[in-house]
Amino acid sequence: MHHLTLVLAICLSFAVTIDSQKKIVCYFASWAYSRDSIGKYDISNIDPTLCTHLIYSFIGLNADASIKILDYQREVTNNGFRMFNELRQKSPSTKTIVSIGGWTEGSDQFTRVVSDSNLRARFVSNIVAFLKQYNFNGLDVDWEYPAQRGGKPSDKENFVILLRELKQTFGREGFSLSAAVNPTEYGAGQSYNIREISKSLDFINLMTYDYHGTFDEDKTVGHNAPLYAAPGENANQKTLNVNSSVNFWISQGAPIEKINVGTAFYGRSFTLADPNQHKRGSPFIAEGKAGPYTKNAGTLAYYEICTYTDRENWTVRYDPEQHVVYAFKADQIVGYDDVNSITEKAAYIKNLNLGGAMVWSIDQDDSNGVCNGGRVPLLRALNKVLRN
Ligand SMILES: *[C@@H]1O[C@H](CO)[C@@H](O)[C@H](O)[C@H]1NC(C)=O
Ligand SMILES: *[C@@H]1O[C@H](CO)[C@@H](O)[C@H](O)[C@H]1NC(C)=O
Repeated sequence: MHHLTLVLAICLSFAVTIDSQKKIVCYFASWAYSRDSIGKYDISNIDPTLCTHLIYSFIGLNADASIKILDYQREVTNNGFRMFNELRQKSPSTKTIVSIGGWTEGSDQFTRVVSDSNLRARFVSNIVAFLKQYNFNGLDVDWEYPAQRGGKPSDKENFVILLRELKQTFGREGFSLSAAVNPTEYGAGQSYNIREISKSLDFINLMTYDYHGTFDEDKTVGHNAPLYAAPGENANQKTLNVNSSVNFWISQGAPIEKINVGTAFYGRSFTLADPNQHKRGSPFIAEGKAGPYTKNAGTLAYYEICTYTDRENWTVRYDPEQHVVYAFKADQIVGYDDVNSITEKAAYIKNLNLGGAMVWSIDQDDSNGVCNGGRVPLLRALNKVLRN
């Protein structure tokens, strides 16, 4: 072998090695500190070495394009933002980012701000000042969603412009820009010019979950985050899974290395119409009962689900068509991901050579090791596949 070829071969093998380090983008739901007992999860509980990116959720937006701090006492007076960003001292390669928006924020203020070039410019300078003041590495835009939930059709193109303007300034300042996006063909089709937003975004967090829940009009049980379509599904249903969303985003021009696949550290639960019919497609009559810590009917954190399966005799089944798990007991059923199905999703990310995994949210893992899988089993499973 010529020396040059050898050098090239070595360079290439290094390139491959570096490329095999995938992103693990961890959202932290900051309100988790207020939960009781094992549900309580605060900044001090975060292990930053398990995440390449940590995202603080959320800050809000005011009508005049100023930044709305949602919990001033905790975040500023008691130094929450500072402590979050100081997690980098324990893991210098980890980036800390703040997310603006979220489901509760909706569209109103975003629509107002993006529609007006003066407000957009003010927003860019306000957010840059905010990131510098609190020492964040970047911004994640979590507008749910452009041109939906009170937004206007023009949001779609104005969102492109906003991201372009943010990126221009962020490039100079060294901040990263990402977004959490509606993953489905139908939802994303209404909200995004995918090719154009992809140019401004350093990475794209596909919210590849919430595909099914008690909001489903056919009133039958479906999984929160199926990996694949099932043979019996109709054409619309076949778009409601991770694989369909990922391929849709790629087909619309999103670069594969920018795509992070969302993984849900929670499940969606149902109260069954008939306790003897307990699988996907069975009729439901209501949300599943609220969990003891998250206290929200229709969803359960992983640490609540694993308590049911490991301590309270819920039956666990793997769905071989959709490659996710579900658990049931009496008239309760929940579709979710466990260590094995999360590992399968991580392998999928690796096989397609996508950017990495995103997590909503790290506070819902079994951080205390109350179940049989040890501490932080889901996040460790992602790290095992994606950062080996
Ligand atoms: C994943 O999606 C692609 C593109 O739509 C499709 O060709 C492939 O069959 C899907 N994989 C599975 C296992 O369903
Ligand atoms: C679980 O099943 C075991 C064995 O049948 C039984 O002894 C135990 O009481 C059950 N626990 C609950 C919470 O149902």
